[in-house]
Amino acid sequence: MTSERRFFIGTRCCKLTYMQEEIMNLKNQAMAQIMGAKDGNELEQIRIDLFGRSGKLTELFKNIKNVPDLERKQVGQTINEVKNTIEGLIANQKNSFKENAREWFDPTMPAKKVKSGHLHFITRAIDDISATFEKIGFVRQRYPEVEWDYFAFGALNFPDNHPARDDWETFFVDTDKSKKYGPMLLTPHTSSGQIREMLSNIPPIRMINIAKCYRRQSDARHLTMFHQFEGLVVDKNISIINLKGTLDYFAKTYFGPNRITRIRPYHFQFTEPSFEVDISCNVCNGRGCKLCKEGWVEIGGAGMVHPNVLEECGLDHKIYSGFAFGWGVEKVSMMKSGLSIPDIRLLYSSDLRNLEQI
Ligand code: DAH
Repeated sequence: MTSERRFFIGTRCCKLTYMQEEIMNLKNQAMAQIMGAKDGNELEQIRIDLFGRSGKLTELFKNIKNVPDLERKQVGQTINEVKNTIEGLIANQKNSFKENAREWFDPTMPAKKVKSGHLHFITRAIDDISATFEKIGFVRQRYPEVEWDYFAFGALNFPDNHPARDDWETFFVDTDKSKKYGPMLLTPHTSSGQIREMLSNIPPIRMINIAKCYRRQSDARHLTMFHQFEGLVVDKNISIINLKGTLDYFAKTYFGPNRITRIRPYHFQFTEPSFEVDISCNVCNGRGCKLCKEGWVEIGGAGMVHPNVLEECGLDHKIYSGFAFGWGVEKVSMMKSGLSIPDIRLLYSSDLRNLEQI
């Protein structure tokens, strides 16, 4: 069936068959649908309806074979032109959807959280502790962590047979006791820094030595590698009053203004008299609760520098006196922050699930 009507395709004027009319209708309809599509999905559906296996344009292509010989070429050309036009239009529309999606910006959306690291809990504690002491004139020092026996024990008044000098207590790097300063070891405490400080400085001395220490211990409450901070003050007329004042200053500045300290007699080789320092419990405010010992929590050792230690470092104990204290960084920082972990070794595990929380 053919109808004889004249149509304009572009600028060309042709004699068109009924099929050509159908093609032009399809083109106009398709263009209207494509321009009116709301999103990519709708556009895709339109494409399938036209170009799918039984799509409208696909059907027209299939029907070309039925067009009379004389007109077949013209009809084929028209369908191809329509096909190209529609494909181009679909591609343009698709791009404009993409651009719109890219340009659309909602400033009220919550920002994406940027993943950022932070300093380790103990690094922050070390900075905090040194800043606290620096405020009252202490100078932060660093002394070797791989040390000679002499600085860690001998010069600190430890007898040769002291149990701390046993292989099962301290990590020895070598065993050659004939060397000038004895065998090398991983220092088990920061008190070795006292000797180095007094040998290389003339009083007045106000030192805070913060370093890693090593002991043969590893369980939920003890670390093989841990940190201590060692305070040392040496001058003329230094007394227990100065020690007590410094302890109270630290307690109030580091832990909070309501905290106070007390000292109890104890024994250390390198101080005389020696003390255990306690701080008032912040849970019960010194009244006594199940988290403390009758209102007090132990924080570490302290004492007046032993005359033998002063003399060993070339300081006349009749002229100079001093005090010292040495406490664990892990312990005081956990006490301050209230951090409670079931196993202290988790502090130094590299598991981010733990580290991100502290
Ligand atoms: N060095 C001792 C220890 O590791 C702690 C200590 C006690 C340090 C008394 C001192 C002190 O300076 O006076 O157990």
